[in-house]
Amino acid sequence: MRRVRLLSWCLLLAGCGSAEPGWSAALQRMKRQPRYDAYEASAFFPDGKVMQPPPIGAVSREQVLQPAAPRPTAELLTLGRSRFGIFCAACHGRGGYGGSVVAANMTERRPPSLRTPAMAALPDALVYSVIRDGFGRMPSYAAQLDERERWAVIAYLRQLQRTPTAAPDERADSSRGARLRALDSARAAPWSGGTR
Ligand code: HEC
Repeated sequence: MRRVRLLSWCLLLAGCGSAEPGWSAALQRMKRQPRYDAYEASAFFPDGKVMQPPPIGAVSREQVLQPAAPRPTAELLTLGRSRFGIFCAACHGRGGYGGSVVAANMTERRPPSLRTPAMAALPDALVYSVIRDGFGRMPSYAAQLDERERWAVIAYLRQLQRTPTAAPDERADSSRGARLRALDSARAAPWSGGTR
């Protein structure tokens, strides 16, 4: 009895298959066409592998090509100031000194001050990739900042790094950042994870 029922189900399903509309038939054909799967052997390529390395000189979509910073116009700097305030200041502080509330509560690895000579010496392209891809404990901001906004943030950061601290909120950030760094250097076990 059960076998009969199973058989009738099979017939029913097969019937559905044959009654599929044209587009669905096309999809089925694509599904059934001869194809290779990843890591399969192939008689076509000389090295016998289906998966071939990219040709020499291939450029990945993610690769930054000669990252040329746009000219830091007043408009770009205004955009950068706004985006820095929204997306970077939360951790690195309004003035970039790393004196934020988040930094005060992060003990393992705090957002560093971006106002040090070492940070000023980081190439633009590196800061760009830190914003886009994240770095260590810092998440990626690729989804929040488009290409122009990333450059705007960098232009504003460069301006910050060149300018002496004046605004009151930057001064507060600066002294809080200094206190946090003093706290960290007084701790017995310094961070040993990062290399940069
Ligand atoms: C959620 C907190 C957070 C935010 C927001 C944040 N950062 Fe960071 N950032 C960090 C931390 C933490 C590190 C240190 C990462 C590590 O060493 O693991 C860091 C490191 C950096 C560095 C140093 C990278 C290096 O090579 O040493 C730069 C530059 C930087 N951030 C720029 C930015 C900019 C620009 C923004 C805004 C788009 C931003 N960060 C937003 C937490 C943050």
